[in-house]
Amino acid sequence: MIRLQGIHREFQVGDQIVHALNGVDVEIDTGEYIAVTGPSGSGKSTLLNLLGLLDRPSAGTYTLDGTDVTSLTDEQQADTRNKKIGFVFQFFHLVPRLTAAENVELPMTLAGFPPDERKERVAASLADIGLAERAHHRPDQLSGGQRQRVAIARATIMRPSLLLADEPTGNLDSRSGAEVIRILEALIELGITLVVVTHDEKIASRAQRRIRIVDGGIETDVRVQDNAR
Ligand SMILES: Nc1ncnc2c1ncn2[C@@H]1O[C@H](COP(=O)(O)OP(=O)(O)OP(=O)(O)O)[C@@H](O)[C@H]1O
Ligand SMILES: [Mg+2]
Repeated sequence: MIRLQGIHREFQVGDQIVHALNGVDVEIDTGEYIAVTGPSGSGKSTLLNLLGLLDRPSAGTYTLDGTDVTSLTDEQQADTRNKKIGFVFQFFHLVPRLTAAENVELPMTLAGFPPDERKERVAASLADIGLAERAHHRPDQLSGGQRQRVAIARATIMRPSLLLADEPTGNLDSRSGAEVIRILEALIELGITLVVVTHDEKIASRAQRRIRIVDGGIETDVRVQDNAR
């Protein structure tokens, strides 16, 4: 499903060049559950942003479902992202003025779905994450765990095949974090490919594959046969 070949990402800051990724090669199959770990500043978020088409590599190719997405225009990338990829962030990134339901509905609105279908799917999605009663609350009227659940609903409302989560529990207490992980893992059962960046060893140990990034490169890439789940 995903193939990264010779991926580099450099950032120029003043006259300094930061090599955030230094030649990353990796293949990810449909339905894999992958934890990405590594020290702060090692390139984890940079890698996730590239996978999510939120950023472009300085060199290398990214093939998604047989298409070289690095050669697509910004508009084509946005279209691919909207159809195939969901993204969950550490700080939720919900739209503050919109209610939970409106936040979840947004990707469908942008994609031009008719209102009836939007309302139906949003209601089902909020019910799935146990937030039917909070549909009309704004983010500042929700707990951190509830906000992250809304963010997951928004990331999955378009039924993406790939879900990317960057420290999704980093800002949550352990109980809310466990609930968020439970919801993400339930998506794997439905066939989604899940890539989670985490500092939490307990979370990383649940994934079937663990990729450790150090200094912009893959240090280890381990598949676990019999995981702790
Ligand atoms: N937009 C940017 N401009 C300049 N440098 C950047 C930019 N984004 C990331 N970097 C640099 O690239 C390197 C990798 O950053 P990245 O955010 O990918 O690290 P990370 O592994 O996600 O770290 P953390 O665990 O702290 O989130 C760092 O040295 C960082 O300073
Ligand atoms: Mg990061």
